[in-house]
Amino acid sequence: MSRVALISGITGQDGSYLSELLLNKGYTVHGLKRRSSTFNTERIDQLDVHPRQEDARLFLHYSDLSDPASLSSLIRDIRPDEIYNLGAQSHVRVSFDVPGYTADVTGLGALRMLEAARAADIGCRFYQASSSEMFGSTPPPQREDTPFHPRSPYACAKVYAYWTAVNYRESWGMYCANGILFNHESPRRGENFVTRKVTRAVARIEAGIQDKLYLGNLDPVRDWGYAPEYVEAMWLSLQQEQADDYVVATGEGHTVQEFVETAFAHVGLDWRQYVVTDPVYFRPAEVDALIGDSGKARRALGWAPKTHFADLVRVMVDADRQLLEDERMGRLVRVDR
Ligand code: NAP
Ligand code: GDD
Repeated sequence: MSRVALISGITGQDGSYLSELLLNKGYTVHGLKRRSSTFNTERIDQLDVHPRQEDARLFLHYSDLSDPASLSSLIRDIRPDEIYNLGAQSHVRVSFDVPGYTADVTGLGALRMLEAARAADIGCRFYQASSSEMFGSTPPPQREDTPFHPRSPYACAKVYAYWTAVNYRESWGMYCANGILFNHESPRRGENFVTRKVTRAVARIEAGIQDKLYLGNLDPVRDWGYAPEYVEAMWLSLQQEQADDYVVATGEGHTVQEFVETAFAHVGLDWRQYVVTDPVYFRPAEVDALIGDSGKARRALGWAPKTHFADLVRVMVDADRQLLEDERMGRLVRVDR
């Protein structure tokens, strides 16, 4: 019998890579998708076969982290061996504009998933997508025992979800693991996160269809890794004898400005001619520096990052150049249903 996984956030960056990983390992994968007025499954369309096809192993269900009843019936019906809670309002700047919604989905959403799993009493394992944002203003290097000091409604919600997962482990004996993931990027990264915003703009400026790139604070330091490698750590953290919490990071810090410089330099352009500071992208409270110490994950999970900063930037810029080319040639075909 193939193992069964349920993923919230399957339509997001990480959900798409995790689905690929699990399908390749022989899992049957169920994903929770939100109702939206536009198609939102673009990142997983390449994996999707019609659910009535005999070889179908990926199934999408309408649900929402704000709707406890649908989460309960999904878990009861699917009876997953593993649940990966990746769903979230995941944008830090946006969380200042929609703090209540962010707390509800990113914080209480985890509680609702955990409670539905507990009530189903099926002994499933639970992964919570926790975040380095929880460390906030506590200086690097950050590791599992570094105190949290969240600096945004998003980070506060993630702290709540983190402790709720720990609490379900300690109170109910459930296998709950937190991955404290530092920033991880890819060509599938949402276009309003800084890395993708930059690489997309670089491709467009090179092609002559964009003049300027408006950015906020260029000084913050982030520890940027490659998303497909981070979903391996998610899976590994559910395959251990005991549930535990792990920092997942490269250990290398770079400023936003370094990312910008490297991306423009890759296509032979000088970033100073194109980048304009726009305070609209400043945050009411900034997180100045996140650099993770992933020693525990390396020792316990045998996980290690492979893709380094310059390669990550190059992969993302080249993917956005290719995407632009495909769009121009009308080569993008969407499988919508
Ligand atoms: P993402 O691309 O923004 O994806 C978020 C996913 O959550 C999407 O599938 C989204 O659905 C879904 N979602 C949003 N609101 C929901 C709701 N009310 N009910 C159900 N699903 C909802 O994020 P990501 O980069 O893949 O990150 C995955 C998880 O890891 C998130 O929890 C994020 O906070 C956390 N994390 C990410 C990073 C990182 O650097 N990427 C680092 C640390 C932690 P739609 O597609 O319909 O919008
Ligand atoms: N998004 C964005 N847009 N960020 C900008 C911009 C801009 O125009 N200009 C400068 N920045 C700076 C932000 O102020 C922040 O310091 C840094 O770039 C990174 O911003 P994001 O790419 O939006 O990511 P994040 O670090 O705030 O949050 C991401 O990583 C977290 C893990 O540390 C998200 O993926 C979160 O969901 C995740 O938990």
